[in-house]
Amino acid sequence: MNARSDIGATFVLWLTGLSGAGKTTLARLTADSLRGRGMRIEVLDGDEIRRRLSPELGFSRKDRDRNVVRLAFLSELLARNGVSVIVAAISPYWEERALARAVVGAHRFIETHVDCPLPVCIERDVKGLYRRALAGDLPRFTGVGDPYQAPESPELVVRTDREAPEASVDRILDYLESGGWAPRAGGPAVRALDLKVGT
Ligand code: ADX
Repeated sequence: MNARSDIGATFVLWLTGLSGAGKTTLARLTADSLRGRGMRIEVLDGDEIRRRLSPELGFSRKDRDRNVVRLAFLSELLARNGVSVIVAAISPYWEERALARAVVGAHRFIETHVDCPLPVCIERDVKGLYRRALAGDLPRFTGVGDPYQAPESPELVVRTDREAPEASVDRILDYLESGGWAPRAGGPAVRALDLKVGT
């Protein structure tokens, strides 16, 4: 076992990227794998947190900033209490992600660009929102009527147009394992279980 999981250090894996890039899929698959190794993991999905906690927020710059700060605040609360977090949110602005890093704590913030070219996201159009945005029915849609500021120096980049989700997950897991954030698959379960946090 490595140093970080020995002391039960927690991380916040912050997945940023265009709508349809694959953030939610990667968050769920990564969380499943880490839970299988005995880790305590929570997924905070922008879409879901908006629906449940912030139905009043829209997609203006100010509202997106608020959404991101709320996600960061929740992440810090969880991380502080022994739960590692995977956030899946477009979080399109450099400034707001820098703020999230500060709120969460730079030492545990792992900014991950879920990178997929806009034309591929448009082609996928999982939720049918690009079609509406391109038809002018959905104003301020990220990548169409609103900007996406790609991270300049993220801890990690995965290209979901070039590899299957499982391959992207493997690279995320490799990063977590080699940084000492997660035990290797098949190794001993993490000490967090021994701490009996919340049990
Ligand atoms: S963020 O910009 O505030 O980080 P977040 O990830 O929480 O966004 O929510 C994005 C989701 O909201 C998208 O996946 C999509 O389903 C939905 N959505 C609705 N309107 C917009 C819009 N104008 N821009 C981006 N996403 C939108």
